This record gives sequence, structure tokens and C-alpha cells, in this order.
Amino acid sequence: MYTLCHNHEVIDAARLEPPPPAVACRGLQKRYGDVVAVAGLDLEVRRGECFGLLGPNGAGKTTTIEILEGLLAPDAGEVEVLGLRWGRHARALRQRLGIQLQETQLSEKLTVEETIRLFRSFYRRGPSVDEVIQLVELESKRGSRVGKLSGGQRQRLSVACALVNQPEVLFLDEPTTGLDPQSRRHFWDVLRAFRSRGGTVLLTTHYMDEAQSVCDRVGIVDQGRIIALDTPEALVRGLGEAGKTLEDVFVALTGRHLRDD
Ligand SMILES: Nc1ncnc2c1ncn2[C@@H]1O[C@H](COP(=O)(O)OP(=O)(O)OP(=O)(O)O)[C@@H](O)[C@H]1O
Ligand SMILES: [Mg+2]
Repeated sequence: MYTLCHNHEVIDAARLEPPPPAVACRGLQKRYGDVVAVAGLDLEVRRGECFGLLGPNGAGKTTTIEILEGLLAPDAGEVEVLGLRWGRHARALRQRLGIQLQETQLSEKLTVEETIRLFRSFYRRGPSVDEVIQLVELESKRGSRVGKLSGGQRQRLSVACALVNQPEVLFLDEPTTGLDPQSRRHFWDVLRAFRSRGGTVLLTTHYMDEAQSVCDRVGIVDQGRIIALDTPEALVRGLGEAGKTLEDVFVALTGRHLRDD
């Protein structure tokens, strides 16, 4: 569609429209037998932001993120990623996304370098294998088999695998669980570098300090629904008491009982 301007320049009206959000879903539902994992969830992640999904164990975070990643089909609801839909545009979307699962199973027999080379081969574009190894600081483990890596090193390797195509949107499900404080901070640096190039991040975490440091906005999920959504600062301010943290907000909203009871 074209619009004629008063100075007779023809401009493409499509270019004036804001780009679609990085991720958008409406009315998402997913049930496993009697268990309602996702119960009508709406979410919009803006381009360039880092959005955190927080919530107790079993809240439905992984189910939600796997639906958004096109790995699980919802029972109901609509999903758009970068303005595209999984049904029609799966192949094109795959090239533009990076995904780290809550438990990534990498082949134990491959080395770090072979693993990254394999993942890199799935994509048309992206940084070199050396650049990716450098990015996650696994140079000294380049020739080590995956089976011989520590938990934290494996975690870094799985983040590396999600970055091999320089994705526009990065989905990370508990990327720092089990990492030592050094590795967590190193991971935050990797995220900052990714975002400084315009990348969008949707992550889950149980570390409230992490959400406060790296997320522009967070959504608190409980029983398959978003029960609060804002910047970490606004949520903390909403408590109305001095000296409170995001963890206080989390406990105030989700209570103290375990979800398996
Ligand atoms: N494949 C499955 N089959 C049956 N039930 C499932 C399945 N996957 C998830 N669930 C159930 O759905 C609910 C939501 O699980 P989900 O993994 O999405 O939670 P989560 O928020 O990611 O939790 P966590 O913080 O422990 O990772 C839970 O009650 C879980 O037991
Ligand atoms: Mg999970």
C-alpha cells in the first residue's frame, strides 16, 4: 500500500506501522488429563525487551514457553512470534529463534566444538563456531566430550546452541538453575551483549534477584494464568513498604504453600 505525501514523495505505508511484537499470545490453554497447565494466558513481549516469566513449580511456565516455541500445540488460543504463526511459517520462524529447553539433552559423545558445529549447520546465518565458543567462554573445553562437562559448563553449552543463528528472539527456560554466582553473572553479560544488538529475550527463572537485574518486565504466573505483570520496580513499589524486593512481591502474590500439595 502506498500513500502520497504532501511533498509528493511516495512512501510505503507498511513501513510506518510499528513492527509486530516479538511474541504475542491470547487465551492460551493447555490441559494434561485433569491437570490444567495453562488456563487462558495472555502475553505480549515487546521487541528488544527482556521479559521474565516467574512462578512457583508447576505454574505452567514451561508449558507456556514450549507452546510459544512451537514445540507443543495449545488446546486453545493464538500465538504469534515476530508476527508469524507456527502453523504457516514454522520453517521461516525456526531460522529466527533461539531455544534453550529446561533440560537440554545433548549428545554425551560429541565434543563442545562438534556440538556447536552441528547446531550451527541447521541454520543459514549466524556467527562462526569460534565466535560462539568465545561468547560462552568454553575455549578451554573445546575438545572435551559433553559427558565430561560440569553442570554449569553444559548449561553454557546449551546457551551457546541457542545462539548459533544469532536469533532475533531467544527463549530460555531456567537458563541459570544450578549455576555458581560467577557463571550466573557471566550469563547476564552474555544476555546484555545479545540485547545490545537488538535481540529480544523471554526467560523463566526462580531467582528473583536475577529477574530484577536482567528483566525489563516480568509476569508472575500461578495456576496457568498471569496474576501480575509490570516492571520489577513497579511491582516492588506496589507493595507500598520500604526495603522490599521482588521476592517479597512473589511470596505476597503466590503464598507459601507448595504447589504439589
Ligand atoms: N507432559 C506432561 N504430562 C502431564 N502433566 C504435565 C506434563 N507437563 C507438565 N505437566 C503438568 O502441568 C503443570 C505445569 O507444568 P510446567 O512444567 O509447565 O510448570 P513450570 O511452571 O515450568 O514448573 P517448574 O518451575 O517446576 O519448571 C504441572 O502440574 C505439571 O505436572
Ligand atoms: Mg518449568
